[in-house]
Amino acid sequence: MLVIGSDHGGLNLKAALKEYLAQRKVEVADAGTQTNDSVDYPEFGLKVAEMVVSGSAERGILVCGTGIGMSIAANKVPGIRAALVTDPFMARMAKEHNNANILVLGGRVLTEQQACELVGAWLDASFEGGRHQGRLDLISDIEKKYSK
Ligand code: RB5
Repeated sequence: MLVIGSDHGGLNLKAALKEYLAQRKVEVADAGTQTNDSVDYPEFGLKVAEMVVSGSAERGILVCGTGIGMSIAANKVPGIRAALVTDPFMARMAKEHNNANILVLGGRVLTEQQACELVGAWLDASFEGGRHQGRLDLISDIEKKYSK
């Protein structure tokens, strides 16, 4: 299952991505927001990140206006590797090299078509492991160093 969340700045793109994911027969949980009312993106970033680290979702997508705030917030949760991407190469690399478990997109940056292409590239890619796993282990060491 994939969990998707946004703030008001990502609401429209979230709706478009849900249609795309339904076409791809991906099971999706919507963590909100559900209206155009102004909300605080860290709340939704945390919700999606916690579902991913707990295992209740295999992976997540977050959308805010630029994607910047959501990526900063989600990456505070140990075990989250949230990647803000703007082109298909980055989206593929986010999985192949970084094993990103959350993809982050900017609703005020991308067209719906661009965003669907990025999600597709990420979903179709596989983590390469090997030397890249070693680098992810080094990231985990940073998390441990700074966890209380
Ligand atoms: C909300 O106006 C906006 O700041 C938010 O969607 C996001 O772009 C933050 O990084």
